[in-house]
Amino acid sequence: MEYQRIELEQIVKPLLSWYDGHARVLPWREEISPYRVWVSEIMLQQTRVEAVKPFFERFMKALPDICALANCPEDELLKLWEGLGYYNRVRNMQKAAQMILNEYGGAFPADYEKLLSLPGIGHYTAGAIGSIAFGLPLPAVDGNVLRVISRVTASYEDVLKQSVKNAMEKEIARIIPRERAGDFTQAMIEIGAIVCVPNGKAKCGECPLAFCCQAKAKGIVEELPKKKIKKERRVEEKTILVLKEGERVAIRRRPPKGLLAGLYELPHLEGHLGEDEVLVHVKEWGLTPIRILPLAGAKHIFSHVEWRMTGYAVSLEETEEMDQNGLFFIDAKETEEKYPIPAAFAVYARYMDIVLGQEKYEER
Ligand code: ADE
Repeated sequence: MEYQRIELEQIVKPLLSWYDGHARVLPWREEISPYRVWVSEIMLQQTRVEAVKPFFERFMKALPDICALANCPEDELLKLWEGLGYYNRVRNMQKAAQMILNEYGGAFPADYEKLLSLPGIGHYTAGAIGSIAFGLPLPAVDGNVLRVISRVTASYEDVLKQSVKNAMEKEIARIIPRERAGDFTQAMIEIGAIVCVPNGKAKCGECPLAFCCQAKAKGIVEELPKKKIKKERRVEEKTILVLKEGERVAIRRRPPKGLLAGLYELPHLEGHLGEDEVLVHVKEWGLTPIRILPLAGAKHIFSHVEWRMTGYAVSLEETEEMDQNGLFFIDAKETEEKYPIPAAFAVYARYMDIVLGQEKYEER
């Protein structure tokens, strides 16, 4: 492999010395346990550090240990995750917690293969838990680490290829210091997060690895890492409806399988529809529209699908049988307290007088 042209061992000491003086104080670093490392790593796979902090604190308060997570009712669990997205991750976490209770007496196994066999735990997470919480010399290679190693070694290999990731894992497993495995893992992530950053902002002047960085020497830091495989994302058009009757709004439950399974949502129709088409559907649902108002467009990106949305607010006349066709009308405030609505609907939820997901935290 290309990156073996430099002796990678030489990064270990300077990296650890730098980490000793520059590690950020983060909630999951203050007190380290396998459970805390696990929860924080799963959250950090999808969200920025600053945004994760309040979610992490809230989650730990509500579910302080594996037993609490294993026994948490699903709606409560999804509510705690609301705004983080990728809800299957937290469902898998609950399954894993139940397995840890049943098969390992409630304590995480300090074993790479056993960690890997738990739902939702892949090589990166198993390596992070193993090294940070148990001090095992296991590699944890995330996007940060791929970037740092690609640059230090001036490798143009495609980091989206599994074979390239595997080779980097092998290399990290070879150099990770037995006596400070957890600090090494965190130091690699940290330097990628605050020094060797992407998008033209790398701070090579502050980097403890600049002395041996091949990309810096060749002036190609910003060309790396290479990501050649383009992810295909299906585009779906939707028309989101805020159906209002006085203070009440209509929501419905999503199917138990697939995207955002089992969560609540604002009713919507496929395609970008005009007012007349929307009114036809609303009447078909047995509702009596009084007024219709177009709402702003919005976009939400999931891993494999992108929703391009338009929307309408429709005020309705009160009739006897409004809860039909899977729709049910609830007080707008109740939604915030009881029904987990995914952040994909955040723009339209504003028109229900509620704020959803991450925005809730960003606005405070
Ligand atoms: N990103 C992924 N894991 C992290 C960690 N443990 N600390 C900070 N940022 C991270």
